[in-house]
Amino acid sequence: MLESTPAFVSIDALTHALQGVGYHAPRRLATSVFLAMKLGRPLLLEGEPGVGKTELAKALAKVLGRPMLRLQCYDGMEQREALYEWNHTAQLLHMRAAQATQTAAEIEQAVYQSRFLIRRPLLQALEAPAPGAVLLIDEVDRADEPFEAFLLEYLGEYQVTIPELGTIKAQVAPITILTSNRTRDLNDAVKRRCLYQWMDYPEREREHAIVQSQVPNAGPLLTEAVTEFVSRLRSLPFANAFQRSPGIAESVEWAKALVALDTLALDPEVIQDTAGILFKQREDVAALVPMIDELLRPSPQQA
Ligand SMILES: Nc1ncnc2c1ncn2[C@@H]1O[C@H](COP(=O)(O)OP(=O)(O)O)[C@@H](O)[C@H]1O
Ligand SMILES: [Mg+2]
Repeated sequence: MLESTPAFVSIDALTHALQGVGYHAPRRLATSVFLAMKLGRPLLLEGEPGVGKTELAKALAKVLGRPMLRLQCYDGMEQREALYEWNHTAQLLHMRAAQATQTAAEIEQAVYQSRFLIRRPLLQALEAPAPGAVLLIDEVDRADEPFEAFLLEYLGEYQVTIPELGTIKAQVAPITILTSNRTRDLNDAVKRRCLYQWMDYPEREREHAIVQSQVPNAGPLLTEAVTEFVSRLRSLPFANAFQRSPGIAESVEWAKALVALDTLALDPEVIQDTAGILFKQREDVAALVPMIDELLRPSPQQA
């Protein structure tokens, strides 16, 4: 099997290319992506919702100019949604047409051919012609354990076995990204086959750069205020007060909303009015309100 040829000579070149499509990657993350490509290994990204896991796979497909195949996981997902299923209608039609001229054995052989397969993302990724595809197995923690077990053959060898057809192996290792919001621990066997990267909320400077590039008309003062406020929200001891801290998407949305309201500077009233963008839980909005003054207080350096 051909290794997936690394399209970037260095981690810096990769970081730069990702930035070019609007994705700001910290050094550690860029290193993991670089290595995953160079070593031909799947990459497991774990972290809270909204830290940029899914977006990374999309950005990577873009910079590589490869198709992205996405498998959105959920509880009770079955192999046939991930890998393939037989096109029963087409098989039936073929059987009917062939009945007059072929024996039962011939017909049976004929209907289990690759042209009667409906290909799902995993199989599509394995069969993608050079330079190969990017496969995103998104939110794998939502799938159940049998599904994780089913993934092992793919993750370890980039191949799958279809009982009627045999083993299908990739000619080019697909660049494979798994994400998990860590609602449960993943199987060790899955982890062993992947490189692993924990993704944290961004540092303030990086979030500032993201908001600035996605909401350019927010202006430097509002952008600064938004990122400072959100970063304080996420930091201790406040973070414990919330069920779920706002992600990058929420910061971006919030900045957009504040621009739409012609806000120039944050004040308690506008924060309360727009708190539903930062938090999607009623209890979290309620917990925020008494903290607003404290969160808005200038830091010692600023005072
Ligand atoms: N590093 C980043 N650079 C640019 N935008 C980002 C970055 N991380 C997250 N975002 C923004 O935040 C949104 C949410 O990210 P997403 O990848 O969906 O989070 P996750 O998959 O971790 O829940 C994205 O649509 C994107 O707009
Ligand atoms: Mg996601």
